[in-house]
Amino acid sequence: MILAPAMPSADAPPPFPAGPIVIWGYMGAGKSTVAQRLAERLGRTVLDLDVCIAERVGTSVAVCFAAQGEAAFRAIERELLLSVLDSGVQILSVGGGALLDSELRARVRACGTLVTLAVTPAVAAKRLTASSGEAIRRPLFDEGFAARFAERAAAYADADLVIDTDAATPDEVVTAVEGALRARRAL
Ligand code: S3P
Repeated sequence: MILAPAMPSADAPPPFPAGPIVIWGYMGAGKSTVAQRLAERLGRTVLDLDVCIAERVGTSVAVCFAAQGEAAFRAIERELLLSVLDSGVQILSVGGGALLDSELRARVRACGTLVTLAVTPAVAAKRLTASSGEAIRRPLFDEGFAARFAERAAAYADADLVIDTDAATPDEVVTAVEGALRARRAL
């Protein structure tokens, strides 16, 4: 008997584009860890945009922020994002402010899949405080942390997939992301 390949049902949501899976969300959402582990699990290439920025400027993100200011940092972040999106990389984690411009989110979603790792500011702050050095390397982990999250919440919700992380371990988040991507035939 010859079996025809399974066809997606007529009301199945359309597949995501074949380009990069971009992992985004607020500071402390676990983006870098989840992107790294997802890439390991799937055997895919991975980049962290903040690492690319640090390599470009020759200092840490925190030092770049302090020395050049946020506007200069955002310009570098934007330029590198656009070039990395075209680089063929399969999984990319980006800093919590990298896609606040809706045009950039649309660019990502036109070629790949935008995944937000959702976290509440209280849990994010707890994670950042608990992991030594993390708070220091983040210039925007300050008294405006919760208010900044509230200003950005709508942007974080504007993604192909939103995965809750508050009550999950990084490996559980990786499993949830993988399952959601497979359900939309992005893998
Ligand atoms: C920022 C988040 C940081 C880093 C920079 C700005 C932000 O990355 O890009 O400090 O505006 O939310 P993480 O989200 O990886 O901490």
